[in-house]
Amino acid sequence: MSQPLILGIETSCDETSAALLDGDGTILGHVILSQDVHAIYGGVVPELAARAHLRQLEEVVDEALRQSGRELKDLDAVAVTSGPGLIGALLVGVSWAKAVAYALDKPLVSVHHMEGHLFAPSLEDPDAEPPFVGLLVSGGHTLLLHAPRWGDYVLLGETRDDAAGEAFDKVAKLLDLSYPGGPAIQALAEMGDSSRHTLPRPMLRGNQAPEDADYYDFSFSGLKTATATLVAALEEEGTFEEERQHVAAAFQDAVVDVLATKTLRAVEETGCRRVLLGGGVSANRRLKSEIEGRLGPEGRLFHASPRLSMDNGAMVARAAQFRLEKGETAPPDISADANFPFPNLVRRRPAPTGKS
Ligand code: KG4
Ligand code: ZN
Repeated sequence: MSQPLILGIETSCDETSAALLDGDGTILGHVILSQDVHAIYGGVVPELAARAHLRQLEEVVDEALRQSGRELKDLDAVAVTSGPGLIGALLVGVSWAKAVAYALDKPLVSVHHMEGHLFAPSLEDPDAEPPFVGLLVSGGHTLLLHAPRWGDYVLLGETRDDAAGEAFDKVAKLLDLSYPGGPAIQALAEMGDSSRHTLPRPMLRGNQAPEDADYYDFSFSGLKTATATLVAALEEEGTFEEERQHVAAAFQDAVVDVLATKTLRAVEETGCRRVLLGGGVSANRRLKSEIEGRLGPEGRLFHASPRLSMDNGAMVARAAQFRLEKGETAPPDISADANFPFPNLVRRRPAPTGKS
């Protein structure tokens, strides 16, 4: 099949999105509808997310098609995020995509949400391809991997508790900021002085060696607790209001320091100075500038624009393009899988013997 036209559907969390991607990688139509309702609750309410997808998906697809000037019958394949994510939310997209693919008699492609994020930067920059060290940071995942080629991934580290985005969202609540917390903390932190408060760098010790189990792993729940303790102390002494931006800056610095240090460890160990950031937290300006600075002029940093860093249908279509090229289509009885394992992600040997 040459130049296939793919419809990508994303409903794994709180963005309802659809995109039309041409075979040469051009986005012909793209709609991302964020669900504002969750801001009232300070986090995503799964049942409300699923209902909103159900209400909105049809219109979102129609608008993406309208932008592209194409019709459903022009499609060569339908791609959908089938996991990981919120099961009710995923089911809406998967059921819709299955029905449409079946009705059109076109292949259905199942996409892993985090592999979608990995492909997002390549929608805007053709150089954003392996080999690279990938740091995937979203609301549900924190993964550090090495990708020698597309579809071939070595897992170096992951979070042992909260994801990086989850930490931003929880600390935002402590600071009386709205959901999603990441952009709100970033904005507040840019007005603050991070050196006024010291917060821990979990799982970061100077004497860690690559053989250590925590050399690449992350942990953010202790940092959230430390921030909560700091906030409580400031409230007690009545200085919380004037210190809020400094706490935000100190928290953001701690997260960025841990993420950047471990990413650079991976750069050193693999000898690969190409780094790709993906997931909602990759929109963080401080994270991008810190990693870029530490990589130096010989390094390359790839990331998507903020719009394509968040959950979107275009990254789903782009990942599906790759899977389709390999002849990987989904069986008609496919279902959503909240814990869908990352395809071809293998854990690195406990004790690496050399450069990869
Ligand atoms: O990838 P994503 O859109 O959805 C998931 O797959 O979870 O990531 C959402 C996460 C949220 O936790 C949000 O607070 C965070 O990304 N985020 C940010 C920024 N923009 C979004 N975190 C830090 N800085 C940002 N600028
Ligand atoms: Zn995501």
